[in-house]
Amino acid sequence: MDLTEARERAGALDAADDLAPIRDRFQLPDGLVYLDGNSLGALPAAVPAAVDDAVTRQWGRDLIGSWNTNGWWSAPARVGAALARLVGAEADEVLVADSTSVNLFKALVAAARLRPGRNTLVIEPGNFPADLYIAGSVAELLGLQVRRVDPREVAGVLDDDVALVSFSQVDYRTGRAYDMAATTAVVQAAGALMVWDLSHSAGAMPVDLTGCGADFAVGCGYKYLNGGPGAPAYVMAARRHHATMSQPLTGWTGHARPFEMEGDYEPAPGIDRMRCGTPPMLSLLALEAALSAFDGLSMLQVRGKSLSLTRLFLELADEFLAPVGFTPVTPRPDEERGSQVSLRHAEAYGVVQALIARGVVGDFRAPDLVRLGFAPLYVRHVDVVEAVVRTLAVIEAGEHKDPRYAVRAPVT
Ligand SMILES: Cc1ncc(COP(=O)(O)O)c(C=O)c1O
Repeated sequence: MDLTEARERAGALDAADDLAPIRDRFQLPDGLVYLDGNSLGALPAAVPAAVDDAVTRQWGRDLIGSWNTNGWWSAPARVGAALARLVGAEADEVLVADSTSVNLFKALVAAARLRPGRNTLVIEPGNFPADLYIAGSVAELLGLQVRRVDPREVAGVLDDDVALVSFSQVDYRTGRAYDMAATTAVVQAAGALMVWDLSHSAGAMPVDLTGCGADFAVGCGYKYLNGGPGAPAYVMAARRHHATMSQPLTGWTGHARPFEMEGDYEPAPGIDRMRCGTPPMLSLLALEAALSAFDGLSMLQVRGKSLSLTRLFLELADEFLAPVGFTPVTPRPDEERGSQVSLRHAEAYGVVQALIARGVVGDFRAPDLVRLGFAPLYVRHVDVVEAVVRTLAVIEAGEHKDPRYAVRAPVT
């Protein structure tokens, strides 16, 4: 296949794509190939009006009454219920609040406290740094020992000392997807609890928290869920744990009767006990509007599009990019892949910057990965080909060697 044939094939795939019209639910700059929706999702078209209403009418006119009249107080659980469908949880099991790091802290401590007498916390060595750091802090606070193991080898470390296991469904670096159902089953069979980080899967592929019987889960609101920069995250707790779980950030909004202003803490009965402080209303309402981009879509359909995009990219990467120094590190079997493809390259940072200069936005992950995310709601097959064409142009012209790229920006 040459690149002209690749363009024709991509055009035909887009013409036959049921999700193609969904791109109109987003505002994207003309001509830009945006392959960073796994880091910051694109702007959903419904968001500007929702934020304008939140600022001008709700805050500007209705002022503090909005906590009651505009549903601000109940928004964390309401937006959680809307999000629950996307992660295969029940509506009353998900709460939108805080950041993923903070929610992970709450979930890990809550899980550990449900398994008193067990003193080991298992995590994966390649997880996102926040997950590793938070797990380390939880272990220190609770006197647990940490074991790091590849999720595929978890069975080998499970014993009756393991209180909980915390993995990501999709690896943020390589894009490798793990088998949530099988992993959860083996962990729970050993008497431990399972906590999932869904940051790199929710919104791009089906997640079935109920089906796999997960105990807790967390994830970002600003990646494939498109909630905007710094959007609040979510935390899921299985209903069977609601009455007994005890999370450590006992802020006043998670109290059973917050406006009684009592001197002692009593947790709210349901998922609301995961609340801590006052919710960031503007961001929360932006995320609520953003979720409407998923209206009427089945996550199986979304997964089909995602796989079609990453399959095409991998095929073209093998043919055109491998000969010029790129090594794909993302697994080939569909079931082992999320919605991104990562390529190893000796000068990956320069490649990413030169690509951005050519209108293809991906990102760099140390030490040597070019990471490209294929958000299935708005990325097209023609964008996949365009990314390959412009990467070849960068390499041929040596643009990635530009001295400007010798110094890294704070955000890579
Ligand atoms: C897998 C994973 N977990 C946790 C986080 C941290 O999220 P936050 O910065 O919202 O706490 C990220 C951020 O990119 C992530 O990718």
